Amino acid sequence: MSTPPSPDVYHAADDRYDPADHTAMPYRRSGDSGLKLPAVTLGLWHNFGGDRPLETQRAILRRAFDRGVTHFDLANNYGPPPGSAEENVGRLLARDFRPYRDELIISSKAGWYMHGGPYGFGGSRKYIVASCDASLRRMGLDYVDIFYHHRPDPETPVEETVAALDHLVRSGRALYVGVSSYSPELTRRAQAVARDLGTPLTIHQPSYSMFNRWTEGPDGPSDPERIPAARESLLRTCADEGMGVIAFSALAQGLLTDRYLHGVPEDSRLGAEKMNPDFLTDDTLAAVRGLTDIAAARGQSLAQMAIAWVLRRPEVTSALIGASSVEQLDDSLSALDRLSFDDDELAAIDRFAVDRGINQWQGATDSAAE
Ligand SMILES: NC(=O)c1ccc[n+]([C@@H]2O[C@H](COP(=O)([O-])OP(=O)(O)OC[C@H]3O[C@@H](n4cnc5c(N)ncnc54)[C@H](OP(=O)(O)O)[C@@H]3O)[C@@H](O)[C@H]2O)c1
Repeated sequence: MSTPPSPDVYHAADDRYDPADHTAMPYRRSGDSGLKLPAVTLGLWHNFGGDRPLETQRAILRRAFDRGVTHFDLANNYGPPPGSAEENVGRLLARDFRPYRDELIISSKAGWYMHGGPYGFGGSRKYIVASCDASLRRMGLDYVDIFYHHRPDPETPVEETVAALDHLVRSGRALYVGVSSYSPELTRRAQAVARDLGTPLTIHQPSYSMFNRWTEGPDGPSDPERIPAARESLLRTCADEGMGVIAFSALAQGLLTDRYLHGVPEDSRLGAEKMNPDFLTDDTLAAVRGLTDIAAARGQSLAQMAIAWVLRRPEVTSALIGASSVEQLDDSLSALDRLSFDDDELAAIDRFAVDRGINQWQGATDSAAE
């Protein structure tokens, strides 16, 4: 008699790339590179630190991979405390995902504050290379698939930062490199340096959602007087420069879901004081209700429509989302059941989908935008 498999031993779903009971995950090529990313990527900024049960994290990651999410996005400082998300992922990679390493795209980043002293913030070669090594140790990996400079640093020449990224690739620490929250102009400068060095930037990771449309530049509703980076479309810049785009906080940190329709739950990001309370205004809540009605008419949850909406742009390779439970992840991934929009739906969405002052990364972008 054969022994049934232990629930502690993970066998990835056999139909993860060809599911019988739900829509298959599309994989989209990142810019001009050969790298394909899932249309939906799971990020581990919140919900994967030392303050969350490892078994919940484990269930989310297993479910994601079973549904074709081959990409997990991290950074040195994700937690809390900083570094703990990478440590937890390291544990879960060792326990569950070791046999699947070649099927996974693991990314990390350095740029935001990690530790005191002059080498724990910014874009110096010193910080980037040391931080990548520390991330690899925490995750127990030989290499990351993508390494990003996490935010512009006006004090470090972009040439130095990009040369450090090139070094990560040449030394085998990273397979691909990218930047995050760079303005269109700085992106073009960085890509020119990267191309000269022979390691073009594969991807850009900007914030982008129905409530935060700076990346659309003149194609969208952002006011270039208030958001200098919106003078030019970052999405089109990336396409011109051969870079893919992975749109982070595609659910506006949970605002573009049903999470806050009936008050602020204690266990939500806002309830746990991990998001600026000013982001949830009456106007924003009214827009959430309007968008929820449009989503319902499409047979979708608002979260699903918000994900489909960022993916409507051909420049966007992947929608980068978070989830605090398997149920949320399952709901979000069912966005794949209906990705297309007609013109009337897009026009109706545009009435509510305007910048709502939630881009907390704008200061970093503007710091080196000129
Ligand atoms: N490059 C950068 O500077 C940068 C900055 C920020 C984020 N990121 C990346 O982007 C990833 C995603 O960011 P994010 O977590 O802000 O993304 P998000 O998808 O906009 O928000 C995730 C939150 O939305 C709620 N949620 C998710 N799915 C839901 C559903 N189906 N129904 C109801 N609520 C739902 C959950 O809130 P509750 O927790 O309240 O349940 C979840 O924690 C991060 O993990 C990170 O990898 C990068």
